[in-house]
Amino acid sequence: MLRSNCIRWVGVFATIVLAPLLWAQQSASDGNRAVLQIHVDQPVARVSPTLYGLMTEEINHSYDGGMYAELVRNRAFQDNPRSPDHWRILRNGNARASMQIDHGTGPSAALSSSLRLNVEQADASDPAGIVNSGYWGIPLRANTIYAGSFYAKADQDASGPATMSLVNDNTGAIVASATVPSLTTAWKQYKVTLRTGQIATSASNHLAVSVTRAGKVWFSLVSLFPPTYKNTPNGSRIDLMEKLAAMHPAFLRLPGGNFLEGDHIAERYEWKKTIGPLADRPTHPSPWGYRSSDGLGLLEFLTWCQDLHMQPVLAVYAGYSMAQEHVAPGLDLAPYVQNALDEIQYVTGGTDTKWGAVRAKDGHPAPFPLTYVEVGNEDWFDKSGSYDARFVQFYDAIKKAYPKLQVIATTPVKSRVPDVIDDHFYRTAQEFFADTHRYDKTDRKGPKIFVGEWATREGSPTPDLGAALADAAWMTGLERNSDIVVMESYAPLLINLNPGASQWTPDLIGYDATRSYGSPSYYAQAMFSNHHGDEVVDSSLKGAGALLFYSVTRDAAKHKLFLKVVNASSKPQQLDIQLGGEHLPEGTATVITMSGHAMEETNSLSNPARIAPIESAVTGISSNFHRTFPAYSMEVMEIGLR
Ligand code: AHR
Repeated sequence: MLRSNCIRWVGVFATIVLAPLLWAQQSASDGNRAVLQIHVDQPVARVSPTLYGLMTEEINHSYDGGMYAELVRNRAFQDNPRSPDHWRILRNGNARASMQIDHGTGPSAALSSSLRLNVEQADASDPAGIVNSGYWGIPLRANTIYAGSFYAKADQDASGPATMSLVNDNTGAIVASATVPSLTTAWKQYKVTLRTGQIATSASNHLAVSVTRAGKVWFSLVSLFPPTYKNTPNGSRIDLMEKLAAMHPAFLRLPGGNFLEGDHIAERYEWKKTIGPLADRPTHPSPWGYRSSDGLGLLEFLTWCQDLHMQPVLAVYAGYSMAQEHVAPGLDLAPYVQNALDEIQYVTGGTDTKWGAVRAKDGHPAPFPLTYVEVGNEDWFDKSGSYDARFVQFYDAIKKAYPKLQVIATTPVKSRVPDVIDDHFYRTAQEFFADTHRYDKTDRKGPKIFVGEWATREGSPTPDLGAALADAAWMTGLERNSDIVVMESYAPLLINLNPGASQWTPDLIGYDATRSYGSPSYYAQAMFSNHHGDEVVDSSLKGAGALLFYSVTRDAAKHKLFLKVVNASSKPQQLDIQLGGEHLPEGTATVITMSGHAMEETNSLSNPARIAPIESAVTGISSNFHRTFPAYSMEVMEIGLR
C-alpha cells in the first residue's frame, strides 16, 4: 500500500512539477505543438443532464410540409378565404365543373367553411373532382400503404360514389385509388386505404378526389398520410424524427419562438385550438407568412417529446405579440394567466383534473413530465416595458399552483428572480470564436441560463463547416459552464428547401418531400449531445493557436473521459495530452472526427454526408500521448478509464 502510494505521488510530482517544464520546452521548440493537461480525478463542475435539446416552431414549413406527415396542402380550405390555394379542378373528357370556397357550411364549428364542387356534367368514364398538388409534390414510395380521408356532403343529385386517387404528374398513371360507395346529404368523414405498387420513389404526384354525377359536393379536411414514426395516427415524418432521435435531445422548447407570440394578439398560439379532433382545430395565421394547420398541436408536441424521451420546455403566451401589441398587466392579463395554468394542467394534470381529463379524452391519460415553463418569447422587443409586470403575474400564479416548476424569463426582470433566463444569440463565426468565455464569470448565485435560440448564421440554406466549427467552439464554453447553463438549443431546427418554402436561414436539418440531410452544425450538436458526460474536469491548455477550443468532461460511473477538440484553423494542431490522476486511460479511445477542406464546405440534398462524423478506434492512449487535430475539424475522443 505504502509502496503504491509512493509510486503514485512520484507520478503526481512528475506530472505536476516536471511535466509542465518539459511541455513548455517542447511547445517552444515545436512552435505549433501545444500541451493540454487534464486532471481526470478533479471534477470542477457538474454537466447539466439537460444541456442539449431542441427548439422548434412553425417556420420554413417545419411542420406543415415538414415534420407533420400530412401530404395534402390546405386540406381544410382555410388558407385563403377567397380561393382554394393549392387546389385545381379536375375535368376529365366531357366533364364540366367549377369550385369555390363556401362560407355557409363546414363539418364543424371550427371549420365552418368548405370547398364546394359544382358539377354540371360527369359520369363514370369522365369524372369531375378536385386535385391537390401537396407540399411541393406528393411523395410516394413503392409498396406503401397511405391513409386517405375526407369530410364531404352532397346535394341529393350528387350523392353517388367518390374516388380518391394518387396520380403520377408525368404519366397521368393512377398509382393507387379507392372508392367510397356513396356520399350523403349530411357531413360525414370517409376513410380509404391506398396501396402503391412497384413504383420509383418520387414527389411528382398529385391527389384527386372525384365524383361521377352532376350536382354539388362540399369537401373539407381532405387528408393523406404515409406511414409515420412509430405508426402514430396523425403522426410525424419518419426520416426527420430519426434524425432528431439520433441527437438524443433532453428537451423540446415548444411551440416557439415568434410562432408563440403571433404578429397580433388575435394571431397568438392558442393551445386550446390545437387539441382534440382535427375538425375542431380552426387553424391559424402564423407570423411566418403562411397559415398553420395546427395538425401538429399541443398533444402532438408532447407525444413527440415522449417518443424521443425528451421533456417539454413549455413556452406559454404571455400577453405580447410582435406588432408591439400587449395585454395590460392586471385584470386584462388574468385570463391569459389562467390559460397558461390550464395548459400546464393539460400537460401534467391527473385525469381527475379538468384539463387532465381533456387530455385523457384526447387519447393520452398519462400526464407528461414538466420541469420548465417559459413566460413568453423575446420580450425585450416589447417597447412598452410591460414585461416585468406581466412576468410577475405569471410567475406568482405558476409558483402558487405548481411550486416545483422552474419559471423561465425571456429577458431580465427586476421584480422577481426568475429561475432561469433565456438568452438568444444569432452571430457570425468570428463573433462566436471570440465569445467562448461568455459564461465563465456569470454569477453562480443568480438565475440559471437557458440558451434557447442560437446559431452561427453562416452558410445557406443550412450552415456550412465554418458555422459548425464556430457552434462547436462556442458549445465548449457552454459545456464548461453547464453548472449555470442548464440548457441550449440551436434554432431554427428545420427547413423545407423547396422554392418559397423558407423564411430563415441557416437551419439545422434540410429536406424536400422525399429526402433530408443533417448540416455540419447538426452533426456538431449530435456529437456534443451524445458525449456530454456528467462532470467537467480540471484542465489547462498552453501553446495552442487562437482557433483551438476544447472541453473535457467525464462520466465517472462509466469510467469514460470525453475530450472535445475544435480546431477551426487552416493548419493542423498538434497536442500533447497529459492525463493526470488515479484513473489512468485503458489504452484505447473511440474517436469521432468531423472535418473538411474549407470553412464553406457543406452538405446538401444531393451530397448529404459530405461533412459528417467518422468514427475510428485509436490505440496508444496513455497518460501522456500525442495527437494531431486536422485543420478545420472537430473531434470527440471517448477515452476509457481504468
Ligand atoms: O428562430 C427564428 C426566430 O428568431 C424565432 O422565432 C424568434 O424567437 C427569434 O427572433
